[in-house]
Amino acid sequence: MSIIPQTLRDEHAALAAELHEANHRYYVLDDPTLTDAEYDAKLRRLQAIEAEHQELATPDSPSQRVGAQPLASFGSITHGQAMLSLANAMSADELREFDQRVRRTLELGESDPPVRYVGEYKIDGLGVSLTYEQGILVRGATRGDGSVGEDVTQNLRTIRSIPLRLGAVEPMPARIEVRGEVYLSKAEFVRLNEARELSGEPLFANPRNAAAGSLRQLDSRVTASRRLDFIAYTCGAVEGATWPSQSAFLTWLAAAGFAAGEHRLLDGPEAAVLFREEAAERRHALPYDIDGVVIKVDDAGRQKVLGELSRSPRWAIAFKLPAEQAETVIRDIEASVGRTGAVTPTAVFDTVTLAGTRVTRASLHNQDEIDRKGVFIGARVIVQKAGDIIPEVVRTLDEMPADREPWKLPTACPACGTPVLRPEGEAITRCPNRSGCPAQLQARLEHWVARAAMDIDGVGESLLAQLVSAELVGDVADLYTLTVEQLAALPRMGQRSAENAVAAIEASRRRPLERLLFALGIRHVGESGARGLAAAFGSLEAVAAADLEALAATPDIGATTAAALVEWFADPASQALLSKLAERGIEPQAPDRVSADPRFDGKTFVFTGALTRLSRDAASEEVRRRGGKTAGSISKLTDYVVAGEKAGSKLDKATRLGLAILTEDEFEAMLALSDGAD
Ligand code: IVH
Repeated sequence: MSIIPQTLRDEHAALAAELHEANHRYYVLDDPTLTDAEYDAKLRRLQAIEAEHQELATPDSPSQRVGAQPLASFGSITHGQAMLSLANAMSADELREFDQRVRRTLELGESDPPVRYVGEYKIDGLGVSLTYEQGILVRGATRGDGSVGEDVTQNLRTIRSIPLRLGAVEPMPARIEVRGEVYLSKAEFVRLNEARELSGEPLFANPRNAAAGSLRQLDSRVTASRRLDFIAYTCGAVEGATWPSQSAFLTWLAAAGFAAGEHRLLDGPEAAVLFREEAAERRHALPYDIDGVVIKVDDAGRQKVLGELSRSPRWAIAFKLPAEQAETVIRDIEASVGRTGAVTPTAVFDTVTLAGTRVTRASLHNQDEIDRKGVFIGARVIVQKAGDIIPEVVRTLDEMPADREPWKLPTACPACGTPVLRPEGEAITRCPNRSGCPAQLQARLEHWVARAAMDIDGVGESLLAQLVSAELVGDVADLYTLTVEQLAALPRMGQRSAENAVAAIEASRRRPLERLLFALGIRHVGESGARGLAAAFGSLEAVAAADLEALAATPDIGATTAAALVEWFADPASQALLSKLAERGIEPQAPDRVSADPRFDGKTFVFTGALTRLSRDAASEEVRRRGGKTAGSISKLTDYVVAGEKAGSKLDKATRLGLAILTEDEFEAMLALSDGAD
């Protein structure tokens, strides 16, 4: 073993401390201190030191956040103290009964003051248990059956709001199981599903499922890419510390570096009823899904007296919120074929209003889902919005009449008639006719022209449908041989639109490499993966020639995506497409920067409101090309806020924080300046 100079040890310790602090400020306090560039630079330096001196890469090092080698399977962990669940109260009366039971057990009389409770939000995620020894995170487990859970330590280490070591707090227990909820915010859920849709992967039904799927990954780098969050709310076994109350424990959690959820002290059951009513009103504005509030007796001595039943404590209760649901009738089930050939059933029902919007359709995902829910045409069903956003059928209210057949996905592709396949053990049914199925072709073309892909304005869904049915295009490369005459001859196409469409197609020949990589529609390759590939390899040929290891080592590319890439480039059909594209003059441009303009380089831009001339995507791309970054939300680290028309709350926040605010004109002037410098 090499001897590590003390100065290097000190530097490593200082970097680790700074990175821990930066994580806490960013992910727990929402009050960042370092810019992303500064954070990255420090992390890279830390990693460089650890590469030379591996004994410094301890489990609590900030370097462990990026994920580790995939596991073959999860081990199991026996909880030091069982992970209980909670009894439910569904109404104010049931909550009052809970309070009565508490008072009886505590032998309180009518004249005794109300019991003091703590109200917390009940986040709809997954309960996990984190074991800290001498303040260092050593293990983390899922709830499992309550006594034994799965060892997901590697994955939990990637969650930025989980401290790898506790802050200096009093008391510091020799050992503690900190418990709380791992969840995915609604915004991350939407982002994840959008990315999955674009890369042809099945969608998650709701944030809870997405969080569960992300946490139970054998490849922790996948978990790291999912931006899970954690809120702590209780403890299991503890050695060497006690707290007088739940509220004191929550204060300790925050001081130790956890995000402890919002909570309130509540005197008596009526305050708890009010707390739930307020939660019901705030629910849609919260960044995460809640399915209720949890009401806990605050005093630790009283908790002890109340004790536990076999599965749940007698000192706490989940006071549920009704899910915003509606009843409707299924009128039809449609099967549609996507880009990858996946045949997806969608329920069409009588319009209902949910969380403020009108809803008529919900994906049923796959055959298993239909069977499990017993969905059939004519059934009365309950629908709700998963994560407040994506409509889903929760359950069927009617038994299927005896004279009705259960709805089955067609055995032949609804678009091309080819018999569909469902591989053993997979949920998705696919049309295998990759090259001949018009629905797949249509979906691939739509993806190709999309704004985030080749950005071909003026060639939309309906024109593509006409091109497919007239057999003018058989693949995306055929777009590049279309003539104005051919297009103008189509129904409802004028000379002008035909000229515009051809010009737009023409202009797309020299898009940046990352857009082409995304446009090809390779499974699992989303926008950020494509950007990572373009930056790492620089040319299409280099990506095609890369082996599995090189691909998997690319930022934003996991093992699954790497395998999908290798498979795609090895497929003769893909190779034929690539040579056809090259023949037709598609020349992806290597990642470039217009210039390292100091106005943009390393700066973070946030767009708000509607831009009138550039699309948001195009504006973001301009910023990126000049070395800048864009973010979705405003923080102290934002350098510029570009305010378009009808800019709302973001603009207010920017004003409050005293940030530099640009109008669309000023932003464009800035772009023009650096173009001139090129
Ligand atoms: S306390 C002994 N507090 O809800 C105490 N649980 O239905 C047990 N949950 O298994 C848990 N938010 O996964 C507690 N503020 C909160 C919670 C919470 C969500 C989950 C937890 C638990 C389940 C019970």
